Amino acid sequence: MRKAMVCIAIMLFLVACNSSASAPKVSVVFSEPLPESEGELLYLDMKCPACHGHQGSGDGFFSNDLQPQPGDFSSAEVMGAIPDDQLKDAIRNGKGGVMPSYARFTDHQVGELVRYIRSLAQSSSN
Ligand code: HEC
Repeated sequence: MRKAMVCIAIMLFLVACNSSASAPKVSVVFSEPLPESEGELLYLDMKCPACHGHQGSGDGFFSNDLQPQPGDFSSAEVMGAIPDDQLKDAIRNGKGGVMPSYARFTDHQVGELVRYIRSLAQSSSN
C-alpha cells in the first residue's frame, strides 16, 4: 500500500513537471564569436595565432621568442608585396626554420587560409 502511494506521488510529480508552462529555455552561450569562414576556422584551430596573433600582426603569444619574427598580415603594404604562391609555399613547406610546414592541408584548405590571411589586411586601416 505504501509503495503504491509513493508510486502515485511520483507519477503526480512527473505529470506536474511535464505540464509546467515555465519550462526553462536552453540557451548556449559562446564566449568568443564563431569563425565566419573555413579559413578563419583553420587559422584558429591550427593555432596559427600562437605566433601570428589573432589579427595577424605578428604579436602572438610566442612571438617574442621567434627569430625570424612573423611578418605583419594586417598590413596592406606588407601583404601587397607578397604573391599568393609565396604564402601557399610557406604554409605547405614551412619557412625560416620557425614557421612549421603544414603538408597535410589540401590545396583547398591552403587556399582558404591564404584568403583569410589576406582579409586581415583588408579589414584593418593600416
Ligand atoms: C611556431 C610559430 C608559428 C606558427 C604556429 C605558425 N607560423 Fe606562420 N610563420 C612563422 C614565422 C616566424 C614566419 C616568418 C618566417 C620567415 O620570414 O622566414 C611565418 C611565416 C608565415 C607565412 C609566410 C609569410 C611571408 O612573409 O612569406 C605564412 C603564409 C604563414 N606563416 C602562415 C601561417 C599559418 C596559416 C599558420 C597556421 C596554420 C602558421 N603560419 C603557423 C611562425 C609561425
